[in-house]
Formats: sequence, structure tokens, C-alpha cells
Amino acid sequence: KSMNRIPVIIDCDPGVDDTAALLLACQMPELDIRAVTTVAGNVGLDKTTANAKRVRHAIGADFPIYCGADKPMFRELHTAAEFHGADGFGGVELPIPEDVLPEEKAWDAIYRIAKELNGELVLIAVGPMTNVGIALAKYKELPKLIKKIVIMGGAAIGGNVTPAAEFNIYVDPEAADMTFCCGIPVHMCGLDVTMTAYITPEELEEIAAFGTPQATLVHDVLQKGLEKYVGWGKPGAALHDPAAVLYTVYPEMFTAEEAGVRVETKGPLTVGKTVTDLYSDKQFDDHNAFVVTNVDREAFISKVKELIKKY
Ligand code: BDR
Ligand code: CA
Repeated sequence: KSMNRIPVIIDCDPGVDDTAALLLACQMPELDIRAVTTVAGNVGLDKTTANAKRVRHAIGADFPIYCGADKPMFRELHTAAEFHGADGFGGVELPIPEDVLPEEKAWDAIYRIAKELNGELVLIAVGPMTNVGIALAKYKELPKLIKKIVIMGGAAIGGNVTPAAEFNIYVDPEAADMTFCCGIPVHMCGLDVTMTAYITPEELEEIAAFGTPQATLVHDVLQKGLEKYVGWGKPGAALHDPAAVLYTVYPEMFTAEEAGVRVETKGPLTVGKTVTDLYSDKQFDDHNAFVVTNVDREAFISKVKELIKKY
């Protein structure tokens, strides 16, 4: 392809919305997926890695997969299997492909690829930020080699694991704070925006009717979670991780504001909170982040449909 594609690594913990994010990324001609790296989060590393292989196989993609951390940098793993299913795949039973993965670890692959790309790499991190934290700790010059980091994680207001913390940050707050402080601009697609990036039951059925392998997989993995959201009185299922991928390529659909963000790692009630000065005094010294606060949901869902339909 002649267009200038954006070279990305997608670091993830599939995960049902991670699955949707990977699949959508593969459908975008604007993206050049250099690698998918896996981390423990929604479920254990063996399962998130197995699910990345399942997605790759189900849609006939060919991105390389590198395994990363099997637990947070300084804590025990806290999973979200009650939402994503015991296997992290929304109860969908697909055989696990036997593909042998490269020996290279996620953090080494991130550094190597960043170096090869001479500062052009965009890192999209939609799980706990453990692999990013380890890469930063191991390779001091990494911040000079990455253009930006787009994360799904955090929230300027609220949380989903606790009143103060969103899951990806809560699981590995130290790694998340290292990420925010490393000097690479961090674009934070937190709950502020991702809860507004939802898909309704009718829209998911419309997608299923496309009948492509992508459509079937997205529908099947999202279905159980969608029923939960509807049970909680929500209009649809939040497409958390897809929001980060779409933001990377179609920022014009979103609203983002520069702000300072740090992560609370100590507070007994607030551990994992992304403390941002966006709605307060704007007095953090370093405005290290862009906090994404809103999305044009209609445009977002039309794009999701268009991408899945095109096969
Ligand atoms: C985030 O947590 C995970 O369960 C989802 O995959 C998403 O990355 C939402 O808080
Ligand atoms: Ca995720």
C-alpha cells in the first residue's frame, strides 16, 4: 500500500473488548501492526496469549505475537474473569491454534521495533501497563524512540473496579505511573470516553448479520458482556479498547484535552486512581497527557460497522 500507515504495537490482555480492538485494527488500512504483545490482566497470561492466537487465526491475520508479563510489576494479579469469562473469551469456544510464538519477550520486542522505526512507533496499550513499565525500566532510551502512547485506562472521573480506579490502572498502578511519567505523550482513553463509546444490542445484531468472520467473532465475544451491561440499565456495551484504537486513527471523532496525570499508588481508598488536573487547578508541573473526554458515538459506531463489513 502506498499510503503512509501508522506503525503500531498493540499491547493487550484479550479479553472480549481487546478482541474487538485487535480485529478492528486489522481492518484499518491506515495501520501497520508491527506486533501484538500480551500481558496478564483480564485473565492470566496463558489465556490472554491463547486468545490473541485465536483472534489471529479466526480472522486470518498475520501479526506477530510476543508474550509479556504474567503478573504486575510489584503486585499479585487481579483479574476480571467474572466479566470476560473464565477463559477471557466471553464463553466462545474456539480451538487454541498450536502456533509456536517467538522466544522474544514483549518488552524486548517493543524496544527492538521502536528502534527499528526511529521514533515513529505508536504504542497502543489496552491492558495493564506492565509490559510498558518493564520496557521503560530495562531500556533507558526507550522514551526517545516512541512517538506516543495511546492507552485505554484510567478516568478523569470515577472508576469501575473501585469508585476511584479503572481496571487497567488498578491492576498495575506502578507500571501505569511509570508510563505517565516517562516523557512520551500519553493519550488517555479512560472511562470518561469509553463509557460513551457503547454499542447497543440492535447495533451488535446488525453487525452479526454481515456474516463475515470478523462480524461473527465480534458478535459472539461481545454478546455475554452486552447482556450484563443491559442488566445494569446501560444502553449498550462499552467498547473500551476499540475506542483507543479508533482514537489513534480517527482523532477527529474525539474530544481530548491536554492535562497532567499521575497515578495514586498508595491510598487505601484511591489506589489506581488517575489523578488529573483537568477539571481542577491545571497546576501539575508537567502536562504529560491528553485526556480524551468524549466521542461522537454515531460516527464511532458507523466506522466500527464499516470496518467490520468490508472484509
Ligand atoms: C478495561 O478493563 C478490561 O477489562 C477491558 O478489556 C478494558 O481494557 C476497561 O476498564
Ligand atoms: Ca483490555
